[in-house]
Amino acid sequence: MIVDVIKASELIRSGEVVALPTETVYGLAADASDVVAVQKIFDLKQRPADNPLIVHIANTLQAETLANTNHALFLKLADAFWPGPLTLVLPKKPQVLDIITAGLDTVALRMPDHPKTLSVIKEAGPVAAPSANRSGRPSPTRPEHVTDDFNDDLPVVDGGACTIGIESTVLDLSGDVPTILRPGKITAEEIEDIISKKVLHDSPDKDQLRRSPGTRYSHYKPAASVKWMSSPVKRKLHRSDSLYIYHTITPNVSQDNVVNFDGNYEEFARSLYDLYRMADKKHCSHIFIEPFPKTTRSPILPALLNRVQRSVSQ
Ligand code: TXA
Ligand code: MG
Repeated sequence: MIVDVIKASELIRSGEVVALPTETVYGLAADASDVVAVQKIFDLKQRPADNPLIVHIANTLQAETLANTNHALFLKLADAFWPGPLTLVLPKKPQVLDIITAGLDTVALRMPDHPKTLSVIKEAGPVAAPSANRSGRPSPTRPEHVTDDFNDDLPVVDGGACTIGIESTVLDLSGDVPTILRPGKITAEEIEDIISKKVLHDSPDKDQLRRSPGTRYSHYKPAASVKWMSSPVKRKLHRSDSLYIYHTITPNVSQDNVVNFDGNYEEFARSLYDLYRMADKKHCSHIFIEPFPKTTRSPILPALLNRVQRSVSQ
């Protein structure tokens, strides 16, 4: 059910859950100060209780009510990248609900770059919001993805197609060294330029399970098995029961199951989850993706590669 910004704010204030657009993916939002409302998000998504939620804010005053924003790097990063696709993990204030942080002593904050959602949050206050997909489905990048996953009774603010298409960069500022827990559109290099300091990248051999609870859950895998193309030469044969995604090679065919991003990795990232959902709707058996050559350079690439790698079948 599509609702406008005013209705969405009213619903959130009265303890309901509403799907809101952001520049990355749609979020499933509830009043961050209402434990019953936030519990509804976990129930709707069937999300494990030990996977914490990002709190979305509309200004830094709201951030101060939730986290210790005296951190030396916080203002620099917020100034440079908010509103935008960067989530900052900070020591939390006592009033932040345990259900949001899954009992951690930190809270993840983000100011999304979407005018409709910023209006809702200004009006209704900070909202806890994970991606608005049922757990185990790809993040939604269009309003119809949200209604595909949930009952049509769920209120959705229509913000059109998301411009980035993959989830925000998550940067943990709560330890000694700033650490990227999840790569996104904002790169390590961009962050290092602003803070004049090196950042770490979380990896499975580090203490990842403690630091980045979300990464312990198996990422969405389409029903189709995702494979790297083994010989991505200009194929003549494209099976009709599979989806083929190219980005450097131009296939000599015009079939709607053969997609070519022609070096436009921003467009590839924007379309990835939409293509996965399309392949599932068409009951594709495989999704073949052209491997990324080592020489490929694009700021979105680390994040795109991360999402593709996590969906590839072994
Ligand atoms: O772009 C995005 O970030 C989207 C839009 C809706 O804002 N949201 C999103 O939320 O991707 P979600 O819940 O699907 O992913 C949030 C990630 C999870 O991996 C979670 O574990 C991590 O952020 N996270 C949340 N709070 C945390 C905390 N206190 N410490 C470490 N990681 C945290
Ligand atoms: Mg998610």
